[in-house]
Amino acid sequence: MPKVKKSDKFLKLVQKHKDTKKVEKFSGSLSEYLAILENSTEISRLAHKRLFESISNRGVTRLSNSDPRCNKLFGGEELRTYDYFQSHFFGMERSLAKIMRFLRSASLKGEESRQVLLLLGPVGAGKSALMERIKLALEDTEPMYHIEGCPVHEEPLHLIPRSLREEFQKIYGVRIEGDLCPVCRFKLKEEYDNDYTMMPIKQSSFSVRGRRGVGVVPPMDANSQDVTMLIGSEDISKLDMYSEDDPRVLSLNGAFNVGNRGIVEFVEVFKNEIEFLHTMITATQEKSVPSPGKGPMIYFDGVILAHCNEAEWNKFKSEGTNEAILDRIVRVNVPYCLEVSEEIKIYDKLLGLSDFDGHIAPHTLEIAAMFAVLSRLHLSNKVDPLTKMKLYNGEDVIERGSVKKIDINDLRDEARDEGMTGISTRFIMKAIDAALSDSEKDLVTPISIRDALIKQVKDQIVVEDDRERYLGFLGKVLHDEYLNILEKEITKAFVSAYDEQAEALFNNYLDHAEAFVNMTTVKDRVTNEEINPDEGFMASIEEQIGIVGTSKENFRVDISAFMFSKLRRGEVVDWKSYGPLREAIENKLTSSVRQISRIVTKSKSRDKKQQGKYNEMVATLIEEYGYNEESAAEVIKFASNNLWRDS
Ligand SMILES: Nc1ncnc2c1ncn2[C@@H]1O[C@H](COP(=O)(O)OP(=O)(O)OP(=O)(O)O)[C@@H](O)[C@H]1O
Ligand SMILES: [Mg+2]
Repeated sequence: MPKVKKSDKFLKLVQKHKDTKKVEKFSGSLSEYLAILENSTEISRLAHKRLFESISNRGVTRLSNSDPRCNKLFGGEELRTYDYFQSHFFGMERSLAKIMRFLRSASLKGEESRQVLLLLGPVGAGKSALMERIKLALEDTEPMYHIEGCPVHEEPLHLIPRSLREEFQKIYGVRIEGDLCPVCRFKLKEEYDNDYTMMPIKQSSFSVRGRRGVGVVPPMDANSQDVTMLIGSEDISKLDMYSEDDPRVLSLNGAFNVGNRGIVEFVEVFKNEIEFLHTMITATQEKSVPSPGKGPMIYFDGVILAHCNEAEWNKFKSEGTNEAILDRIVRVNVPYCLEVSEEIKIYDKLLGLSDFDGHIAPHTLEIAAMFAVLSRLHLSNKVDPLTKMKLYNGEDVIERGSVKKIDINDLRDEARDEGMTGISTRFIMKAIDAALSDSEKDLVTPISIRDALIKQVKDQIVVEDDRERYLGFLGKVLHDEYLNILEKEITKAFVSAYDEQAEALFNNYLDHAEAFVNMTTVKDRVTNEEINPDEGFMASIEEQIGIVGTSKENFRVDISAFMFSKLRRGEVVDWKSYGPLREAIENKLTSSVRQISRIVTKSKSRDKKQQGKYNEMVATLIEEYGYNEESAAEVIKFASNNLWRDS
């Protein structure tokens, strides 16, 4: 019975799919095509424009100063993001903006329309995935009009004779580029007696698998490289019937033939021999490619995209003979993601695509992402790596009670090409898999992922310096950082209504600090009594982040000013609004339960009350923070072995 239901359900979907696909495609003569063109000249747009529009039409968002992430991370530089890429690519906004800028200029027929776009990046940075996504944009775009039966699906307007094109442009406002391919020219003469208005035109969708409008050139070794891959060949079996210069012998099925009107992609482009790439130059420079055999050049209109990694690129660049090609390349770097929160989204995406069904404890992916980002950062003498990582992630870094003022743009400037080295996303995914398969309970925790990463670094990283640096991050930096995170988490689980308590401390502190600054009194929230600012209370918070002595006054002035300006801008303030105060409050709450945490998590023989408190804490970890029983047990054990050791 359920079987029938499933298939019914599916067949309905099939029907729906068929219906949507059935949208009538145009089929008619050139005259009829011209009638359509009259109202919508965009149907004859060139490849770069089509691609640019098919992506940007899905929506463009301008990140401007008002966006906090933009302000912090992009230094207020105005950046456009494209909806089409948003839910697929993370932390890649700059590269995507550059790619789109290229397409935009090219679509305005600037010099870029005669250039190859090269994506350069380290392994696993998402170059191939990005290519796939770009190609897919064409499949979803409106079908192209082309001369029926044309092997390169050429633009119907090629049929308009040169002598009429000037007039045509005046009337339609469309400039015609390119001439008929040899196959259509032959057909026009033989079958239509040169009456080009009667030539049949049809509409076809772009298809990656159908090799319509998308041509892909895989890397090939020197022996199998054959230019027919690019420009097609002559069909030897037909050479008996027709003469060598008869278009009927042509098999125009090379990448530049099938990619006409759309995209030609060169995978790992510089693995190919240079000779092989000459066609690429001709295609960009002349907007045409050679015809197999002796025929004339064939017009080509398409976006040429290539990708490779840096080692290949450097090798290629160093060879003096390659200048002609270098001059025709627009390079866009596709570095690894350097924002921890975005890097986590990549893992989430990849895990979502896999069959992975184990339990992932909270902060596991965060620790992995922190490691990946740390490995990718260039050293700076302005900040330590962990601080730099946090700044890149848009976090405030607190130092001696104030937000560390470091211009993130300065850090970027001193580390050009950052993100082109380090640990790849694949490396991390493998470690997650390894941690899972080593686990008897089908779970990965921050502790087990760190172990798996250490093992994998020891196994696979051969460059001595990198290895040492990576092990340093895993052994010390992330160990300590995780303990910080964990201590806060356990505190939160211990303190019932943590947020409310934090908020109450915050309000209270602000009341007193403000009164102190303005030399007034505080109205007690309970008794309504006017009291003097409570020095002891304020100090108990301030000392949490090392503010003592005279710096206390400055801190109170700073914080009152900060809150006042926020309120004036109509923004909501809460205990998390000001980084240093937030940290002080968290530390205060943590220290207030440190004693009980220690007793409760450590003691082997808890008394009844303690046991109750402990159970409550575990329940909070599981119900509210996303642990399961095993992972909660594992992190608590880790905490009791590593935290509160001095007390
Ligand atoms: N910034 C990112 N956002 C989203 N996904 C990403 C990102 N970086 C990498 N990925 C994902 O990681 C996986 C590996 O990327 P991909 O194979 O595209 O890398 P590549 O740059 O082509 O590497 P290679 O040089 O090894 O061919 C892909 O599934 C891709 O979706
Ligand atoms: Mg790739």
